Amino acid sequence: MHEVLRDWDGENALISYDARTQSHLFIAVHSRRLGPAAGGTRLKTYPTPADGLRDATLLARAMTYKMAVAGLPMGGGKSVLAVPGELSPADRLHLLIRHAHNVATLNGSYSTGPDVGTTSLDMDVLHAHTPYAFGRSPARGGSGSSAPDTAVGVFNGIRAAVAHLNGDPALDGVRVFVQGCGAVGEPLVGMLVDAGAVVVVSDVVAERVEMLVRKYGVTSVAPDVLDVDCDVYSPCALGQVISADVVPTLRCRIVAGAANNVLVDHEDGARLQQAGILYAPDFVINAGGAIHLIGYEGLGWDSEQVAAGLVGIGDTLAQIFTTADDQGISTEQAAERVAEARLAAGPS
Ligand code: PHE
Repeated sequence: MHEVLRDWDGENALISYDARTQSHLFIAVHSRRLGPAAGGTRLKTYPTPADGLRDATLLARAMTYKMAVAGLPMGGGKSVLAVPGELSPADRLHLLIRHAHNVATLNGSYSTGPDVGTTSLDMDVLHAHTPYAFGRSPARGGSGSSAPDTAVGVFNGIRAAVAHLNGDPALDGVRVFVQGCGAVGEPLVGMLVDAGAVVVVSDVVAERVEMLVRKYGVTSVAPDVLDVDCDVYSPCALGQVISADVVPTLRCRIVAGAANNVLVDHEDGARLQQAGILYAPDFVINAGGAIHLIGYEGLGWDSEQVAAGLVGIGDTLAQIFTTADDQGISTEQAAERVAEARLAAGPS
C-alpha cells in the first residue's frame, strides 16, 4: 500500500480495516483545487487490499479530471469498500455505516455518491450518518440514481464521435457493441435501439443479457469477447479494458463508453490513435452522473440545466476530437490538456 501512495499525486487517503466484515475501507482525495472533492463509493472484491487502494487513488484522479472538464466546481475523490465476497445484509449495513462515519470525519472536504456496487438506497443509509452523500433516493430528498443521466451523456458522446467520422451524428444502422449492461449500460442500449443503431451486448450476468435480447431484439456475445466487428465499442462495465495487447485485436472505429479508467495506461490513448480508432476519453464522456448529482444537489439546477450539461458532453468531445486532429495528438492528451489548463487556472 505504501507503493500505491508513493506513486500517486493525490492529497490524502483514509485507510481503515473492519474486522467484523474483513473489509478494507479506503477514501482517496485526489485534488480540491477546484472545490471540495466528490466521487462515488465502489463496493467490490479485489485480489489484494493494495489493489483496492490503487483503484480508489486512480479513480479519484479521474474524478478530478472529470469535474475540471465538465466545468463543475468540485475536486476529485473516490471511496472503495474492498469486501472479501458477498456480505450478509446486516454486515453490509454495518460496513456502510462505518464508511459514513469515515466520510463524516472529512468534514465536507469529500462527498460521496453511488458507483459500481452501490445504489441510491445505500446513499440513504450513508446520509443518515453524514450530510456528505449525493444521490439519495427521491423519497429521501435526493436526486435519485445518476446512472440514467450517465447513459444520456454517453449517448450524446457516441453521437459526437460518429459525427466526427461520418459528418453526421445519425446512429441509424451504426453498429454499437455495449459491453456491460448494468445501471448505465441498459438505458444506453434502450436509447441506441430507439435511434436505429444495430446493438450487440455482453454482460457477466447471463440473465441480464437474456432480458435485453428479449426486450430490445439485440444480439449478444460472450462476456470475454472484445473483437466484435462494429463501429462503436462502448465499454460500460469495469475499466482497464484497453491495453497494448488489446488495441490490435479491436475491430471498431470508435471507443466510447461509460466505464471509468478504460485505459490500462496513459500510452493506450496514443495506441488507439495510431490504430486509427477514435477514442472518447472516459472522464469526458462519462461525466453525466457527476453533472446530475452535482447539478441537482450541489448547484440547485433544474432538469433543463442538467439536460444542457449532458448535451455539453457531446459539444466538449467534438472540440477535443478537432483539437487532437489539428495538433496531431491523441484525444486522451487533448482532454488532459483541457483539464490541466482548468486546474492551473484554479476555481472560477
Ligand atoms: N460514480 C459516478 C462517476 O464516477 C457518479 C458520481 C459522480 C458519484 C460524482 C459521486 C460524485 O461519475
